[in-house]
Amino acid sequence: MIVPIEGFSKLSKEEKIDWIALNYTSNPKATKKILKSYWNTDANVQKLHDEFIENTITNYYLPLGIAPNFLIDEKLYAIPMAVEESSVVAAASKSAKFWLKRGGFKTTVLGTEKIGQVHFIFKGDFDKLNEFFKTIKPKLVSDALGITKNMNKRGGGIVDIELRNKTAQLKNYYQLHCTFETLDAMGANFINSCLEQLAMTLKNEAKLFSSFSSSVKNIEIVMSILSNYVPNCLVRAEVSCPVEELMNDKNDARVFAEKMVRAVTIANVEPHRAVTHNKGIMNGIDAVVLATGNDFRAVEAGVHAYAAKDGAYTSLTNASIDKGVFRFWIELPLALGTVGGLTNLHPLAKLALEILHKPSARELMQIVAVAGLAQNFAAVGSLVTTGIQEGHMKMHLLNILNQLGATEQEKRSLIEYFKKNTATHNAITEALEKLRNT
Ligand code: MEV
Repeated sequence: MIVPIEGFSKLSKEEKIDWIALNYTSNPKATKKILKSYWNTDANVQKLHDEFIENTITNYYLPLGIAPNFLIDEKLYAIPMAVEESSVVAAASKSAKFWLKRGGFKTTVLGTEKIGQVHFIFKGDFDKLNEFFKTIKPKLVSDALGITKNMNKRGGGIVDIELRNKTAQLKNYYQLHCTFETLDAMGANFINSCLEQLAMTLKNEAKLFSSFSSSVKNIEIVMSILSNYVPNCLVRAEVSCPVEELMNDKNDARVFAEKMVRAVTIANVEPHRAVTHNKGIMNGIDAVVLATGNDFRAVEAGVHAYAAKDGAYTSLTNASIDKGVFRFWIELPLALGTVGGLTNLHPLAKLALEILHKPSARELMQIVAVAGLAQNFAAVGSLVTTGIQEGHMKMHLLNILNQLGATEQEKRSLIEYFKKNTATHNAITEALEKLRNT
C-alpha cells in the first residue's frame, strides 16, 4: 500500500527516484533506467536544470525545431519552436515560405504596458480614502524607489497608480491598480516586489492618516499580484497581397481568399470554432514562447481573456478582401521578456534568442505574433482546401511507424507509399503488415 511521505523534498535525487520507482511503478529498475537516460551527460548542465524547480528527478524533452524563411519587417528570421505536435513546425515553415515571396510579415507594437494590483479591504468612506490616496501617492512611489531605481534609470518603472473603487462588485473592496513599463524584462518579479512594497506603504500610512477614524485605520491587504491580463501590452502582425497573387490560377485565388475570409468570420461568430481556431494560433505562439524561456501559461491566460474581451470568445485573427487586396492579421497581448527569468539561464533559451538576433522584448512580441499568424494561415488554409488530415497525417506518419516498431527500411518505403495514398492510423497499420508479409 502506498502511504504519504514526509520530507520528500529533503531526500537526495537518488532517494527520490528510488521512492517514486518503488511506490508508483511496476518495474522500478526500468523506471530508474528511463529517468537516468534523460539526464544530461554534463553534470553542470544537469545541476542547472535540477535547480530550476523542486524535486527534479530528470529532464522532460520536447523537440526544438526551426521554421526558417520568416521575413518580418524586412528582416529574415529562422524561428526556434519547442513543440511536440508533428505538423506545427512544418506548417509555420510553409507559411513563412509562402509570404516570403509576397512581401513578408509587417508588425506593430501597439503598447507595452503591464499591470499589477493591490487588492484591499477598507471599511470607511470612499471620499476619505480617495483623499488619503492622493496624499500618499508620491510616498507610494518614493518608498518603492529601492526596487524601481535601476528600472527607472533605463526608462521603465511604475507608470501610474490608480485607486479603484470595486465596492459595487464586493463590499469594502478597493484596488491600487498599477501600470508598469518593464522594458526587456517580462517583469513578474519586479512588479510583484513593487506591489508588495506599495501594499506595505498603504497599510502603514493609513494608520497615521488623521482623517481616518480609529475604526477604519486598519486597511486589510488581501493580496498583491501582477495581472496576466495585459490588453495594453499589444502587438499586431499582418500579411497582405493582391488576391490574384495567392495562387497561380486567378479564379482559384479568388475562391481561396473568399474561403479564408469566411472561415475567419465563422471563428468570429462561433465560440466552438473560435477556441479551436485560436488553439491553432497558440500552437505557433506557445512553441516560440517556450523555446525562448518565457512563461507560456501567462501568455495563454492573457491571450484567451483578450479573445473574450467584448463579452464573447472570438478569433484572434481577422481577414478581409478590400479593393482586390487580401489581408490577414492578428492582434494579441503578449507579456514577454528577453532578459531575466529563464531567458538567459536555460542554455537553449539563450541560444534560441541568439538565433532570433537577440531581440528586445518588443521585437520578440513581433516575432511571436508572426508565428501565431503564420500557424493560423497554414491551418485555416488547409482546412478550407485539402482538409487538415492530409498534411497532419503525413507528418504524424513517422510517429505511428515508430510506435509500430517499423525498421528504417520499412519507414522509407511507407513514407514513399503515403506520398500518393491517404494516411490514416488503420491504413498505416495495414500497409506495414502488408509490407512485412510480401
Ligand atoms: C491542431 O493542433 C490545430 C487546428 O485544429 C487549428 C484549426 O483548426 O484552425 C488544425
